[in-house]
Amino acid sequence: MVEEAVPEVRGVSDRTPADRTVAVWDLPLRLWHWTLAACVLTAWFTPTVYDNLHRIVGYCVIVLLAFRLIWGVLGSRYSRFRMIGVRLRAAPNYLWNLRRGITGRYIGLNPAGTLMLVALLLSLAISAITGAMSVTVTFFGVWWIEDTHAYASDAVIVLVVLHIAGAVLMGLLQRENLIRAMFTGRKRIRHH
Ligand code: HEM
Ligand code: HEM
Repeated sequence: MVEEAVPEVRGVSDRTPADRTVAVWDLPLRLWHWTLAACVLTAWFTPTVYDNLHRIVGYCVIVLLAFRLIWGVLGSRYSRFRMIGVRLRAAPNYLWNLRRGITGRYIGLNPAGTLMLVALLLSLAISAITGAMSVTVTFFGVWWIEDTHAYASDAVIVLVVLHIAGAVLMGLLQRENLIRAMFTGRKRIRHH
């Protein structure tokens, strides 16, 4: 019985080797991701000390957010926003099931990742827009704008820490290096 099964399994696995990969993140999305990460981290460390640099990377974040909205329509399959509504509705259940290590099969963003995408885009938009407003003459000195900028920026950093922890944890559960995939653009075909 066992002797018979072995060549059969080998034959199948020859045709579908475990290292076969599929293209997930297109090049513009990958460049967008790492440029955004660099700008956000630079913005975090520069207020007051390097004001000019802070403003430049802050404006870059605004341009990058605008690009992501366009790419959500024009980008390749996993860059598009089409599935956001469905994934968000699945998020509460998904997070609840994660306590038992159930990650499901997703090639692009899973429901938790989609929730993080939306939370990051919204908090970044609030942070960058109130940042820009706080240096325009009309609004200068308006306290709620500066306060909102500070709170939204704190929220961004908390979310980024959770985001990185989530990517590492999910990668461990699925035995796939998701961070490398954000560089190469490719993921393994089979998850368990
Ligand atoms: C510091 C600011 C960062 C921001 C604002 C950010 C934002 C995002 C966003 C919005 C996505 C969703 C991709 C999409 O648009 O569809 C994403 C995906 C991802 N990010 Fe980040 N990111 C940051 C830093 C990082 C860092 C430092 C790492 C790794 C150490 C990382 C690893 C990943 C991975 C692995 C994915 C894909 C998740 C998956 O495969 O399910 N990110 N990030
Ligand atoms: C996502 C992008 C941004 C992040 C993460 C960010 C983050 C921060 C942080 C953490 C602070 C310190 C807040 C405090 O504790 O008082 C700050 C202050 C400030 N930011 Fe931003 N910021 C961003 C974009 C911008 C933009 C686009 C502008 C203007 C063009 C801007 C202008 C300012 C100004 C004027 C201050 C007051 C402190 C200072 O004199 O530098 N920020 N920002």
